Amino acid sequence: MRILHCSDVHVTLDYLKLPLLKLGWRRWIALGELWRGRARAYSEAGDTIRQIVRDFHSLGADHLIVSGDLTAYALPGEFEGARAALGELASDPRRCTVIPGNHDVYTPGAYRDQRFERTFQPLLRSDLPEYQREGIWPMVRLWGEDVAIIGLKSARVPAVPGLSFGVIGRRQLGGLRDAVNDPRLSERAVVVVVHHAPLTRRGRRDKLHHGLADKDALFRIARGPRFAVLHGHIHQRYHHAATETRPHLFGAGSSTQRGREGYWLIEVERGRIAGGRMLEPGAAAASAA
Ligand SMILES: [Fe+2]
Ligand SMILES: [Fe+2]
Repeated sequence: MRILHCSDVHVTLDYLKLPLLKLGWRRWIALGELWRGRARAYSEAGDTIRQIVRDFHSLGADHLIVSGDLTAYALPGEFEGARAALGELASDPRRCTVIPGNHDVYTPGAYRDQRFERTFQPLLRSDLPEYQREGIWPMVRLWGEDVAIIGLKSARVPAVPGLSFGVIGRRQLGGLRDAVNDPRLSERAVVVVVHHAPLTRRGRRDKLHHGLADKDALFRIARGPRFAVLHGHIHQRYHHAATETRPHLFGAGSSTQRGREGYWLIEVERGRIAGGRMLEPGAAAASAA
C-alpha cells in the first residue's frame, strides 16, 4: 500500500479582502499586516493541493492522508476551498483520511459550529465504531488485509490565544489501546494520524506550549516497526525511524508553504512500514528515508 501524506495545507483567504476588516481599527490593521505574510506564503495553497492530488493519481498511491491544519483560521470559505481542492477524494473515505489541526478549531465559533466535521463529514467514518471515545475519534479504517489507519484528534480550542499544544486525552488513548489490541489488527501495520508532533526534527520533545502533551502515553501504545505516527504542526518535513520504544514518525511539514512544498510517499508492505520518500509536488523524488 502507498500512502501519500501531506499536512498543514493552510488554505488561506485574503484577510484584507474581508469586509469586516475595512473598519480601520488599528489592531485590525496590525493583524492584517501579519496576515499578509501568511496570505502570501499560502496564496497558491489550493493549486498546490490540486497538484498533490494529481501526483496521488500518477504515483499510483492508494490513500491520501492530511494530518490537520487544512485552513488558516477556520473560516467557512477556507474549509470550502480545502474541500474543493481535494476534489472527489474529499468524499471518498476509502481513499482519503483527514483530521483537524489547531487552525481548524481556531475559534470557539468554528468549534461550536463543527465546521471541520460538517465539511469533511463523508470522510468521518470508522470501520470499528466500538472504539470511538470522543466524537468519531479514534477513527479506525481497515485497509486491505494488512493496514489499519487510525485518526486521532489532538487539536483543542486554546484557552489563551497563542497556546497551540495538543492533547489526545485519556479517552482517545484508551480507545486506541483497545483498537490496537483487537485481533483484527494484530497482523496489520498501524498508521496513527495525529496533528501535533511527538518529537521535533532533532528528536526532542517540542516546547510545552506547542507540543503533544501526551506523546509518552501514545508511544506506550504505538511502538516498533509495525507502527507509524503521521503528523504535521511543525512546518518542517522529517522522519524518525521506529525503535523498540517509539513508532516511525513522519512529519509532513507544511505541504503548500511557498518554497517549502512537499509530502511523504510511505510504503507499507506485509504489515510493516517499509519506508518513505520525500517528494515535491509535480517533481521526482527529492530524498529517501
Ligand atoms: Fe500548521
Ligand atoms: Fe498546527
